[in-house]
Amino acid sequence: MSGRTFYIETFGCQMNAHDSEKVVGTLVAQGYTQVETPEEAHLVLYNTCSIRDKAEQKVFNRLQQFKRDAGKGKVFGVLGCVAQQEGEKIFARAPHVSLVAGSASYTKLPQMLVQLEAGNRRVTGLSLETDETFDTPLTRRDNPHRAYITIIEGCDKSCAYCVVPFTRGPERSRAGESVLAEARRLAEQGYTEIQLLGQNVNSYRDPSAAGWDFATLLGRVAQVAGIRRVRYTTSHPRDFVKAIVDVMDENSVLCDHVHLPVQSGSTRLLAAMDRQYTRDEYRRRIEWIKTAKRKYSITTDIIVGFPGETDADFQHTLDLLDEVQYDSLFSFKYSARPHTAALAMPDAIPEEEKQRRLAIVQEKQRAIQIRRNADRIGTLQEVLVEGRNQALGQWIGRTSDNRPLNFTHRDEGGASLLGQYLPVRVTRSGPNSLVGESATVE
Ligand code: 5AD
Ligand code: SF4
Repeated sequence: MSGRTFYIETFGCQMNAHDSEKVVGTLVAQGYTQVETPEEAHLVLYNTCSIRDKAEQKVFNRLQQFKRDAGKGKVFGVLGCVAQQEGEKIFARAPHVSLVAGSASYTKLPQMLVQLEAGNRRVTGLSLETDETFDTPLTRRDNPHRAYITIIEGCDKSCAYCVVPFTRGPERSRAGESVLAEARRLAEQGYTEIQLLGQNVNSYRDPSAAGWDFATLLGRVAQVAGIRRVRYTTSHPRDFVKAIVDVMDENSVLCDHVHLPVQSGSTRLLAAMDRQYTRDEYRRRIEWIKTAKRKYSITTDIIVGFPGETDADFQHTLDLLDEVQYDSLFSFKYSARPHTAALAMPDAIPEEEKQRRLAIVQEKQRAIQIRRNADRIGTLQEVLVEGRNQALGQWIGRTSDNRPLNFTHRDEGGASLLGQYLPVRVTRSGPNSLVGESATVE
C-alpha cells in the first residue's frame, strides 16, 4: 500500500473510543500517518459497535458510501464489535472490505498490517480465545486532560439481551502494577483525570500475586500524585460491593458519581434478563451509596420492551425511577441481537409499545432532572474546564458528580482556562446541564 495514510471513525462506547486511541498509536508506530477524511486515506478503518441494531447498521451505511472507491488503491477495514459479531460474513456483504478484526485480536494488528501491505485481500483477526489485554505505550489520546485506562476487557456475564460477551470475549484483568504505572506516566504527562474502563470493572481481579480487587485498585489509583479526578465505568450491580463505596468515601479524588445500570425495576424481568440480582438487592446498593459520607450522583441504564415485559413490570421500573431519583440515565428500546438468549424468547413487544414506554421513561426522568439540577442553584462546584462555547461566551466545565456546568468568567482577558480546575457558582439549571459564574477572586 502506498502512502501509508489512514482514517479511523469510531462508533459506540468509551471502550471503543479508547481502543481506537490504541489502534492509532499502533499504526503511527508502524509508520502510518492519520488523516482527517476517508477521501485522503489509503487505509479506511471503522471501529464499530453492535450493541443495538441501529449502531450496527451505521457501519454498513458508511461502507456503502465508499464502495466505488474500492480498487482505487483504498483498503477498508472493519474493527470492533460488528467485526467480531459478523466475522467473514462482512466480506460477502461488503466485498471491498479487506480487514475484519475484533478487539480481542488487536495485539496482532502489526502482523495484520503487514499482510494488508503485502496485498492480502482477506485479513481476519477473529479469535476470542485470549487471555491478553491490549496494552500499549503507544496510545494516542484524544483528550489532553482526561485519559482512559483499560483495567479489564471482555465480559463473563450472560445478560440475555447483550451481545458484548460474544463480541469482546472472556473477562481478563490487567495487572494492578501495570495500571498504576500507566496512571503515574499519565500524571507526569499532565493528565489530571483518569477514567478506568471495563465492561464490568467491579469484577476486576489483579492477575498478579497482589490479587487486588476493584476497590483496592481504586484506592491505589486515587493516591497517584497529580491525579485530581478518577472515574470508572461500567459497573454491574451484582459485583458492586460496599467496599467500593467505602473507598470512594475515603478518597475525594474518586469522583462523586456512580453509574449503576439497573436495566429494569422488575425482579421477574431481571431474572428473565439473567441479571443475577433482584430489585431489592439493587436497592440495597443504592442505599449504600445514599447513606455514604459523601453525596454521590447516581445514574443508570434502562431497557424498555424486553420480551415479555408486562405493564406491571414496566410500572416497577417507573416506581424505581421515582424512588431512586437518578441524576441522569440512558434509556433504550430493546433491540434483538445475534448470539443472545433473548432472541429465542417469546412475547416480543411491538415497536410502537416500546416507543411509548421509552417516551414515558424519558419524560419522567426529565422532570426528575429538572428538579435535581435546580437543587444545585446557589451552590459552589469545582469544575474541570473542558471546552469553550464561543457563541455563548461560556466555558464548558464538568463537576465531580458528572454534570456539565457551563460558566462565564469575569476575567475574559483571553487566557485559556482549558484543563484548569475552578470554583463556579451555579446560577441557572436545565434538565441536562447547569449554568454558572466562575467564583475566582481576582
Ligand atoms: N437492546 C437495547 N439496549 C441494550 N443495551 C445492551 N444491549 C442492549 C440491547 N440488546 C443497553 C444496556 C446497557 C447499555 C450499554 O446498552 O442498557 O447497559
Ligand atoms: Fe458497542 Fe458494547 Fe462493543 Fe462498546 S462493547 S462498542 S457498547 S457492542
